[in-house]
Amino acid sequence: MINVLIIGAGGREHALGWKLKQSKQCGRLFFAPGNGGTAELGQNVPIKVDQVDTKTVDAVDYFCRQEKIGLIVVGPEDPLAGGLVDRLAALPKTKSPKPLVFGPTQAGARLEADKAYAKHLMRAASIPTGEARVFTDAEAALAYVNSRETPVVVKAAGLAKGKGVVVCGDNREAADAVRSIMVDRAHGDAGQTVLIEERLVGQELSVMALVDGRNIFVLDPAQDHKQLGEGDTGPNTGGMGAYCPTPLADDTVMRQVYREVLVPAVDALRREGVVFQGVLYAGLMLTAAGPKVLEFNCRFGDPETQPLMMRLKGDLLEAMVATAQGRLDEVDLSWDPRCCCCVVMASEGYPGKYESGKVIAGLDAASAIDGVQVFHAGTARRDGDAVTAGGRVLNVCALGEDLAAARDAANEACDRIEFDGAYFRRDIGYRVMGVATG
Ligand code: AMP
Ligand code: GLY
Repeated sequence: MINVLIIGAGGREHALGWKLKQSKQCGRLFFAPGNGGTAELGQNVPIKVDQVDTKTVDAVDYFCRQEKIGLIVVGPEDPLAGGLVDRLAALPKTKSPKPLVFGPTQAGARLEADKAYAKHLMRAASIPTGEARVFTDAEAALAYVNSRETPVVVKAAGLAKGKGVVVCGDNREAADAVRSIMVDRAHGDAGQTVLIEERLVGQELSVMALVDGRNIFVLDPAQDHKQLGEGDTGPNTGGMGAYCPTPLADDTVMRQVYREVLVPAVDALRREGVVFQGVLYAGLMLTAAGPKVLEFNCRFGDPETQPLMMRLKGDLLEAMVATAQGRLDEVDLSWDPRCCCCVVMASEGYPGKYESGKVIAGLDAASAIDGVQVFHAGTARRDGDAVTAGGRVLNVCALGEDLAAARDAANEACDRIEFDGAYFRRDIGYRVMGVATG
């Protein structure tokens, strides 16, 4: 039996834990720090792993030795980019065996944490992506923006909690974005370097793959909805819903993504001496000229992972262990043929200011619907109740014969859940409804 520690506190971590727990090899399951949902599935541990400093590394190490942890799964990007995996590997040997870690080293995580580096790597490997120029000087960036005749996207090169990208309508907006990111440092040092990228048009696709340094196992494609309002209107959020699979990613597209994006990326990393182990996530735009990479992430997507886990058949624990041990070629996973739709229930005011501590009712009634599973994101426990504790509160997932059936079931489940100020979109998946499955 393998005891598992999952690092993170979101719906992604709840869904990963839910799937890992189904493995016959799964021993005790811990979450650091976890949320109101993970507290029911396993045990929450009060270690926050946002910053990778000596105190945090020691706390994780001590906990792992106490509880004989065999596998650490790192959910979010911050600890990966901060070098948690490297720091754990560098600890001196003790009597107890070191846990395996699922997630890339700092050098691998740079693919997400430094967009200028990712662009450089893509260029070197001829991976299709938008044309971009990199600037460290605000005046030079402004001059370039003003010389452009087609729309651009301004991106802070560093990690900015998904908020460092501004898709601009015209040059004035682009100049404002440059000033906000580079001069006012709206995202701190993440804005020291910016990319000014051509604006691409098309639908977005998320393709995640398990990578063991050499072998690549591509997971089923998903799409998410980033905007707050129905019909993809309003401000960008961390994601208001997702679905998997998507008819837009047929075999041809998936083969193209594998051959033109994933294989060259893993090869290019290896040439740079980086053995990437974990999840490589390609955020793609399906343009008229084929799929182009918008970004790489070094981890599972949130909320795309929730519908992915709902459909995954086979042993995730075995797959993660094999990934960490470099023997992914021995793994075979398959998928439930049904569709899964994940609807995010958010707090009123999100992505701006919102209140927390609202009691959540109706969770059992929602879960009673056939094929429905509710993952917690921003929740906590208070006197036995689940209460809201974040902007995105719940990830309500439902399986269905097709996407419309899955969405209807997820919406019905959301209707059974109540908390003060609850908000969700009823139209998740609308962009591909009616598109024939390939
Ligand atoms: P990123 O973090 O680079 O994926 O950017 C966040 C979001 O900004 C993406 O999911 C897209 O919606 C949008 N975006 C990024 N790059 C581009 C681009 N070159 N053209 C159009 N939209 C983009
Ligand atoms: N769903 C987008 C992300 O995880 O970055």
